[in-house]
Amino acid sequence: APTLKSAATARGLLIGGAVSASLFDDLDPDYADTVAREFSVVVSENGMKWKALEGTQNVFAYGLADAVVAWATQRGLAVRGHTLVWHDSAPAWVYALKTPQEMRSAIRNHITQVVTHFGPKVMTWDVVNEAVADTPGHPLRANSPFALAGSDYIDAAFRWAHAANPAARLYYNDYGAEGLNGKSDAVYALVKGMLARGVPITGVGFQTHVDSTFSVEGTGMRTNLQRFRDLGLDVQLTEVDVTLPASGATPANLERQAQVYRDLVAACLSVRCSAVVTWGVNDASSWRSGGRPLLFDDDYAKKPAYGGVIGAL
Ligand code: XIL
Repeated sequence: APTLKSAATARGLLIGGAVSASLFDDLDPDYADTVAREFSVVVSENGMKWKALEGTQNVFAYGLADAVVAWATQRGLAVRGHTLVWHDSAPAWVYALKTPQEMRSAIRNHITQVVTHFGPKVMTWDVVNEAVADTPGHPLRANSPFALAGSDYIDAAFRWAHAANPAARLYYNDYGAEGLNGKSDAVYALVKGMLARGVPITGVGFQTHVDSTFSVEGTGMRTNLQRFRDLGLDVQLTEVDVTLPASGATPANLERQAQVYRDLVAACLSVRCSAVVTWGVNDASSWRSGGRPLLFDDDYAKKPAYGGVIGAL
């Protein structure tokens, strides 16, 4: 039987998932076995976030992140680095910084240290995550500590990442921008401006945390992804999960979930995207486990959603 990896590789697509420390849990060997068999790329679900790597200013802790990178590299899997600058994963000391200059040097130091540490082992980075506001008319979110660094902090973050690893592929990553809507318009304006200013950005990551009522067709997702491609940018689906309705894992709901997965992968392939990454491995370990949103059930059996993905590849 084909695997996700063999089928995706044949289409020139990376396929993968976010992984946790369960990768190293001897009591749960199916977790690592599933990842090694089915995926060609992994992302550490939380291990490369700012508060995991630099919980104390200028004291770096790479334990879990290094272990994930070593595990993946030994098995020939690629690694997405996630994420250098995200308000939600900034430790308290970042929020406590007082001056623009302090914030600017904290961001610069974090990016430079982290990207340099991983070097050629991590060639893809989500440089800035979720900086765009959900509210139309407010391009950048109001509750970010990073705005203190100056209105050009996003441009600067990409330039610092590029300086630390000029060959790395650098992404802006966000949620709710999958279809044509006010938020995707704001993301589009942001990255178009970055390109015009000569900022080194490779592409846009669309998180794709959706539910089983999501309509690829109805949201205009293919057209939306294509407009980013037309700017010369790469496109990836970076955190895909599709939750079931409250009525749970009925055959009809699981089929609907499978159809959404199939449509998402088909839309991605139709614009020649480069990766589809699910946000986890099996339902039980998902951050939205109640919605049973992934390709493998609690016991690592392939769900109809798995067939949906294979069917689109
Ligand atoms: C989530 C993780 O899955 C959780 O374990 C953690 O508690 C919070 O972060 N957008 C992102 C991801 O970019 O990093 C988030 O991951 C989910 C939303």
